Amino acid sequence: MAITPPANRLWWNEPVERTEALWIGIALLWAVIMFVMMPYWHIYGQQNLSTEAYKISPDAYTEKVEAFVEKYKIREEGDTGIPVVKPPAGADIYMLGRLWEWYPILELEKGKQYRFHLSSVDWLHGFSIQPTNINLQVHPGYEMVLNMTPTESGEFGVVCNEFCGIGHHTMLGKIYVK
Ligand code: CUA
Repeated sequence: MAITPPANRLWWNEPVERTEALWIGIALLWAVIMFVMMPYWHIYGQQNLSTEAYKISPDAYTEKVEAFVEKYKIREEGDTGIPVVKPPAGADIYMLGRLWEWYPILELEKGKQYRFHLSSVDWLHGFSIQPTNINLQVHPGYEMVLNMTPTESGEFGVVCNEFCGIGHHTMLGKIYVK
């Protein structure tokens, strides 16, 4: 019974069971493996995303995106006339997040590398390309740059996965890969 003191006063001071020691060993080994995997994936992983980030004001970023859209726009889409932009392979390409859209729509070439710039001009948003496993937090005031090579053609959806207000669920964008 718990209210009586244990018969052996040093009840905790017993030799460790073999199986228990084995499990402690396995858990420790696994912890070490997971620890080593973090830097390993950072160096050798195929989906290292944001390796560069620069401070930029939302206004300055908007200006860069507008200049990019102006230069490479090929058509407009939908009721709101969101521009579809087709930059040449290897170009610096831009997308911005704001309440509540991803702007503009990009049309890229499969197998070609681009320098992808990404920022928010208002709140914190989450950039996620569906159906791939790409996921980034997009902060206002920071311009992230990452090298991107589309490996599959098709139409990819960009969704916001960071709750950003009443229109969060409508914050959708698009990337075409041809
Ligand atoms: Cu933007 Cu949620």
